[in-house]
Amino acid sequence: MTTPGAPLLTFVHLTDTHLHPDPTFKGKRAWSPRPTAEAVIAHINALPHPVDFVLHTGDLGNDPLRAEHYIALRDVVFSPLRPPLYVIPGNHDHRVWLSAAFHPQHERPYYNFEVNGVQVVCLDTSLPYQPFGEIESEQMAWLEAICAAESHQPLIVALHHHPLSLHAEAMDSIGLRGGEALHQTLLRARYRLKCVLFGHIHEGVTMVRDGIVYASTFSTWYQSRTWHGQTGDFAKADLHHPGYTIVTLTADGGVMLKPVRVLTK
Ligand SMILES: [Fe+2]
Ligand SMILES: [Fe+2]
Repeated sequence: MTTPGAPLLTFVHLTDTHLHPDPTFKGKRAWSPRPTAEAVIAHINALPHPVDFVLHTGDLGNDPLRAEHYIALRDVVFSPLRPPLYVIPGNHDHRVWLSAAFHPQHERPYYNFEVNGVQVVCLDTSLPYQPFGEIESEQMAWLEAICAAESHQPLIVALHHHPLSLHAEAMDSIGLRGGEALHQTLLRARYRLKCVLFGHIHEGVTMVRDGIVYASTFSTWYQSRTWHGQTGDFAKADLHHPGYTIVTLTADGGVMLKPVRVLTK
């Protein structure tokens, strides 16, 4: 008999670190993404409870120019991170270089893994040189087979682009194309799907549709600000406010998403 509320799995949802091998790189912002990412990694390492893994939902790099840049980020920035790290590509990543550096055991940028009996499906929605995302047909067929399978394993799905409309014009123009088809596919696994995690929007948003929870978390670099009915460009907040989300699945089928902000100077 399971104890109600006993933790089955605890992991961290991290996203949009936008790291550059040059620690002084600032891009179009007034501050570098490096110190805030390092502060978040230190914060995760200091959590007072076990963390089974960290799941990074993309834009790990900021348009790296060479494959070696990912190896440098892996070996310098992410090596202090204590839990195992799983990554998927964002629109600012090079999916082949990212995969080769962070999970060379998988032959494709999309893959799935299992921890404590929980199945985690990591999608690749990136398209070369495009800000919006798409799930290509071969990958969609792979996902459909997973969602149609008779299984009672708890399931987590992760992707970079927001699959549902935020009803914010500019942000929606760079979201996932084919999000409705993805939602219809995921509905087949609704009874075991605990949540769908995404990044890209640099904002913490949770949406529920047909009983499926879709949740993003904060960027570790800069935040955006959208609102329902927003027209024109989305606002970019001037504050760091980096953060992440702690996701806990419980043995009785529950899920808890806990957003965490990390104070930096
Ligand atoms: Fe991003
Ligand atoms: Fe992105």
